[in-house]
Amino acid sequence: MCGIFGVIANNDNVKDQIFDGLRRLEYRGYDSSGIATINNDQINCIKSQGNLDQLQKKLINEDLLGNVGIGHTRWATHGVPNEANAHPHITDEVAVVHNGIIENFSLLKNQISETGINFKSETDTEAIAHLITLYLKSGMGSYEAIRATTEDIKGSYALAIIVRSEPNKLYAVRKGSPLAIGSSDSKNYIGSDGYSLGNYCNEVTYLKDGDIAIIKNDAFEIFDHQNEFINRKSQIIDKTVTLAEKGAFKHFMSKEIHEQPSVIQDSISHYINNEDLTVNLPKFPFNITNLKNITLVACGSSYYSGLVAREWFEKLARVKVDVEIASEFRYREAPMDSSGLTVFISQSGETADTLAALKHCKKLNQKTISIVNVPNSSMCRNSDSSLKIFAGPEIGVASTKAFTCQLVVLASLAIHIGRINGNLSDDDENNYVKSLLDVPRLISNVLDQEEDLIKIVKELNPIKNALYLGRGQMYPVALEGALKLKEISYIHAEGYPAGEMKHGPIALLEKGLPVIIGAPSFNLFDKTASNLYEVIARDGNVLLITDQEGLNHLGDTTKKIKSFIVDEANIITAPFIYTIPYQLFAYHTALLKGTDVDQPRNLAKSVTVE
Ligand code: G6P
Repeated sequence: MCGIFGVIANNDNVKDQIFDGLRRLEYRGYDSSGIATINNDQINCIKSQGNLDQLQKKLINEDLLGNVGIGHTRWATHGVPNEANAHPHITDEVAVVHNGIIENFSLLKNQISETGINFKSETDTEAIAHLITLYLKSGMGSYEAIRATTEDIKGSYALAIIVRSEPNKLYAVRKGSPLAIGSSDSKNYIGSDGYSLGNYCNEVTYLKDGDIAIIKNDAFEIFDHQNEFINRKSQIIDKTVTLAEKGAFKHFMSKEIHEQPSVIQDSISHYINNEDLTVNLPKFPFNITNLKNITLVACGSSYYSGLVAREWFEKLARVKVDVEIASEFRYREAPMDSSGLTVFISQSGETADTLAALKHCKKLNQKTISIVNVPNSSMCRNSDSSLKIFAGPEIGVASTKAFTCQLVVLASLAIHIGRINGNLSDDDENNYVKSLLDVPRLISNVLDQEEDLIKIVKELNPIKNALYLGRGQMYPVALEGALKLKEISYIHAEGYPAGEMKHGPIALLEKGLPVIIGAPSFNLFDKTASNLYEVIARDGNVLLITDQEGLNHLGDTTKKIKSFIVDEANIITAPFIYTIPYQLFAYHTALLKGTDVDQPRNLAKSVTVE
């Protein structure tokens, strides 16, 4: 993970621009940060433990002048998040920032230590700084020293490097972790993504694996893995993705929860023709008729959106679906139908495991579609076809609006495939599309009841553990609800298929344990209600999310539980409607507990390491 930003200018002070770039990359990690510049033949470096606010406080008292500099915002892999382990890592000669993991760093560290060098940090990155320095001292030029170092290190990395003796150059290296160069009139930039560069540049050039770039303020050259000069095509930066502001909301997460009706509307308008009530997807560069099997691959909340969508593909399109956790799938060597369709779901489009799974599937001749939020992300660029979800920048680490916008695209794709394979009639398509068009209104209705939910949260708190139950699509929605609670309030929560409770989780039931059950009346309500009775019989504290009809079914039992009533749902609308109370529940529980909602401990928005 980690965010990298660098600037080279004519004779400007680059510190503020680097800091601004890091702000845009904070979603990639925020446990420590730092900036290094070259000034008066010397490398200067300021680092701080904690998020960028802490670095900002330090920078106020420091000049940190220089026309070239690099910055980093970290998500710890090797070494605890303290100031010593924060990047940049410097020697007398170089400063290095790194995103990725150097797998052979212990070996390298031992070899370097034998030369008498003492390591100041526990990081793998410091080895890179020393290696380059050793090569420089052996008489190599900077570029040669960097290339020689890349031959020694194994693993994945994006590196930004400055060399004390060359204040007119900035070096960028990529293998496995993303890095891009942005250009403007008299300055050049590097950043971990196009979004971080969007404030300063109109065009961006993405490095490819094995590339090393030598960047001056007015030009840059890229050399590929064979050390050949190469012309990489630049791309226009999507400026619609602007720096998100919290506005009147206390947290980005709250803002993003409340944005859902409008961003879902946006997403719908890209994929639905609301005049003739049909799905309108871009043409794929391959044939998707007669698909026998679809594989959905993702991590985290994106994986849960895949689990929700499985039922759409199965029921609406009658296609068999495997939903795979990317980190497991990529190493399982699962046999795959040649020319099958694999869909990769990711908010960031950069998650290392999902990206690796995509590359693996391409080798297996799969047709690949990515469903992503961040335009021009690695997954967009590497898949045969990409469907954007149009959620806008999602800053809160716990995914909310990206999850529901992914569902819009997945539902559209399932309806589309159902239509072209003849499983859905015109009328079926029109009806499902109508349901999808109703989603923004239905979500607004849930949001209007936020105060009721806050009351319930206060009554249930303090919570130490929680169980989330559901059947059918309500099971992955329960998983997502439990994940939200874990992520931002650090409360242990488990999502379980309601019918499976008796095979284990029932042992957890004790007086007062909050058990949150999602059960729309249209689907398996009585089955889920049986599990609800089992919880009540063991003194669990039930919060039931259902519609009025569901509640009516329960008769007097309603007096023994808490309930939150939502609109009646169907197979399309249910996952959307029932996700919102879970998001609000997690948010308000975290607020009561006082945790950092937008930047929860140990997490990062974009997980670019394995
Ligand atoms: C991290 C985030 C989650 C996200 C997951 C997958 O764990 O905190 O919110 O669901 O990564 O990320 P992606 O960008 O691939 O959807």
